[in-house]
Order: sequence, then structure tokens, then C-alpha cells
Amino acid sequence: ALQMGSESVNPTVAIADLHRHVDAEVTIQGWLYRKTGKGKLQFLQVRDGSGICQAVLFRGNVSDEHFEAAKALTQESSLVVHGVVKANERAPGIPGGYELDARELDIVQIADPYPITPKEHGVEFLMQNRHLWLRSSRQWAIQRVRAVAIRAIRDWLDDHGYLNVDTPILTPAAAEGTTTLFEIDYHGEPAYLAQTGQLYNEANIFAFGKVYCFGPTFRAEKSKTRRHLQEFWMVEPEIAFCNLEQLMEIEEQFVSYIVQRCLHDCQAELAVLERDLTRLAQVTPPFPRIHYDEAVRMINEAAARGDLVPGYPDPVPAIEWGDDFGSPHETYIAAQFEKPVFVHHYPTQVKAFYMEPEAGRPEVCRSVDLLAPEGYGEIIGGSERMSDPEKLAAAIRRHGLPQEVYDWYLDLRRYGSVVHSGFGLGVERVVMWVCGLDHVRESIAFPRTLTNMRP
Ligand code: 4AD
Ligand code: MG
Repeated sequence: ALQMGSESVNPTVAIADLHRHVDAEVTIQGWLYRKTGKGKLQFLQVRDGSGICQAVLFRGNVSDEHFEAAKALTQESSLVVHGVVKANERAPGIPGGYELDARELDIVQIADPYPITPKEHGVEFLMQNRHLWLRSSRQWAIQRVRAVAIRAIRDWLDDHGYLNVDTPILTPAAAEGTTTLFEIDYHGEPAYLAQTGQLYNEANIFAFGKVYCFGPTFRAEKSKTRRHLQEFWMVEPEIAFCNLEQLMEIEEQFVSYIVQRCLHDCQAELAVLERDLTRLAQVTPPFPRIHYDEAVRMINEAAARGDLVPGYPDPVPAIEWGDDFGSPHETYIAAQFEKPVFVHHYPTQVKAFYMEPEAGRPEVCRSVDLLAPEGYGEIIGGSERMSDPEKLAAAIRRHGLPQEVYDWYLDLRRYGSVVHSGFGLGVERVVMWVCGLDHVRESIAFPRTLTNMRP
């Protein structure tokens, strides 16, 4: 019978906690991951969500009935095993090093033939079976790293005086360009799924000083890339009395903390992912900073030499001053540095309407992107915000945005306007980088991509 809870005589133990029960009798419950055996021995690799451990069934230690039952187990069958925990350095599993010398086996359900077998499957097939694929050890590791990254994000902000104030998902206006809006019907009025919570964050800092919002954001991205989702999670801190230079210092502290926390708390997971940890260990403040002008010069010199973009089959494409970077440009720039690199002062024309232009040089704005190393591209976008009401009203007009819905936003510049800055960090981009993934789709349990929103 199933044993639930911790009150029973032989309490159920999480596989991750087996090390605390060496030589004791325990019960584990989970699913069969793999099975091997011969003669008098059956080895069941059992997963319970917290880890994987091998249960060893030795005929003689378990009843004949239970031993025979084990032979009928199929992959993903649900089961309960009772036995004695043994420390064994060579025992396979996650984290490994402990196994269960089984005494009893209860089968909860014999699983139907499971579509995902240890053999290689195509990504399309795996994506269609995402609801099952999540059980495999790589996917398990990724989602656990994600959860730790999110915990690190919240811990750092909560410990540094930021108040979590959540912002609406249903919004009347575009904030990050009108080309990626998901439109919905708000009782007869058009509304859009939030691309960002930033504009509301800007209202909130005048009440709370330092804030962050953290939630899903939506972009109808029409191009198919390895880095873009239609729905992604973004954490957005916003800070009153903060300029661009101070913003960069906050970002490098924040990102370093997240990466170091994942390294510390996710050793088993990163081992499953075979992640090169030396590159992550280098992520400590300060990060290098380069001006957009300098980045353009580096790119065009590389293009003139015919340098290749790391990881791409092509040479670095030249760029015109004033253009936004493409993925190959970002990858090339990031590859020139060991650590994440800040690129600041992008051309005003490629950035959002709310960014503060540089004094005396309005063709560039006080914006900054943080590019991750190893080809993972932009993980943060941020800026100093325009704080003058007249300049901001002009920018809204220039971008052809509807005045009425931004009235409240202009108010923020009328009642005690201050220099303020903020940024948005994409959770999936960070998970992709920390885990070393080829594609952002694996960094969230049920990704929404250009071509797929099922299951
Ligand atoms: O650079 P973005 O568009 O900045 C903003 O939305 C600002 N309002 C943030 C702010 O200042 N409060 O997006 C910020 C980050 C990017 O650097 C990237 O990490 C992530 O959000 N991101 C995406 N991640 C996955 N799929 C997409 N389609 C993404 N678009 C942006
Ligand atoms: Mg950006």
C-alpha cells in the first residue's frame, strides 16, 4: 500500500535525503527510470523528483513474489520500495553514492509502453511529448536550476531593499514597440498582453523607492531564433535616484550573485548537464563596459579581417553605425571577453521611446545591454529613463504612440521627477546560459514558440 506523509512507522524518504538515513530502513516512492538484472539480482533505478537511486533486489532478501513482480516492471511504472539504505561510492544515481537494499516492493501501476526511451529522439518528437520529456534527467536538471535562479533573483532583491510590486498583464498600450503585441479583446476595447511591467514600475518607485516586478511577459516575435520565446519571464528592478553608471554596478552585482548561487546550489544538476563550470566561476564584478561606438569599431575591424563568429559558419557581418546588433554581432562582441560585457549608449533610433538621450549627443541614449559570454547573447536590457516631461511628451509623439494612454506616465515627470533607471532580465536567457543550452525552449517547462504552443 502507498505510504504518504511522515507519520508512518517507516516514513517515506526523499531520495535526495537518503544520506541522512544510512543503514536505516526507509520507504521511497517514485517511478522506474531504468532496470537491469540477471539471475538473483534486479537493479531498479527509481526517480522520485528529488533524485535517482538504485534499489537492489536480491532474491533471498525479498519474497519470490516481489522478485517476480520486479521483472514485469516497465519504464515509468509507479512503485514504492522499502529497504535499507547503504552507502556505496559506486552506486549510480543523482546525486549517487547511496542505494537501497530492497526488502519489499509495491507496484502502484505498470506503465504502458513509454514513448521516450533511452535512445535518441528528434527534438520535434520530444517537444510534442514535452509533458513526458520533463521526466528525463536533463530536463529535470534544467528546471531545478531555473528554480534556484529564481530563488536567487528574489533573495538578492529582497535583501537589497527592493519591494516586489507586481504590474498588470492586461495593458492598454505598447511599451516595447508595436510590432510584437499580442492583442486581445477587453470587453470591446483592444488590450495587449504586457511586453514589460516597466512603465508601472516607474510609477511604483515614487511610492516605494526601489521596486521590482516579476512575471510572465509576452511578445509576438515573428522571427524564429534560438533565443526568442513568445512568452517569457522577466524580472524588472527599477530604482529612483539612479543613473546609468550606478545601474551597471547594480546589474553586475545581481547577475554575479545569481550565477554563483546556481554554481553553489546546483552541483548535481550542472553535472547532469555536463556544464563547464570554469566559465561560470569567472562571473564576478566588475564586468567590462564598452560604448556602442567602440563595439561598432570592433565589429567592423573583425569584418574587414574576415574573422569568423564563434559557433557560426559565417564571418562577422559588417555593421552600419546606427543599426541594432544581430545575434552574430552580439556573439562576436561577447566572445572578446571572459565575463559578461556591458554595451552602453546605443543609438536612440533603435531603442525604446522612454530612454534618456545623452546630454550634448542626442543620437545616442543612456541605455545598456548586458551580453552573456559563450554566445548566449543579450540577457539584460535597461536604461536611464527620460525624466523631463516635455522631452518625454515629444518622444511619445515622435514614436506615434497614443497620447491619452500615456497621460499618467507623463504625470510621473510632473510631481517630483527624479533621475531613475531600471532593467529587465530574461529568466529563460539566464537559464539557457547557466545550463549551457543550445536553445531557449528547454529553459521553461512548457515553452511557447513561434511554431508551437502545444502541449
Ligand atoms: O530588452 P528588453 O526588451 O527590455 C525591456 O523590456 C525593458 N522594458 C526592461 C526594463 O528596462 N525594465 O527585454 C529585457 C530582457 C532581454 O534582455 C532578454 O533577456 C529578455 O528580456 N527577452 C526575451 N527572452 C526570451 N524571449 C524573448 N522574446 C525576449 N525578449 C526579451
Ligand atoms: Mg533588449
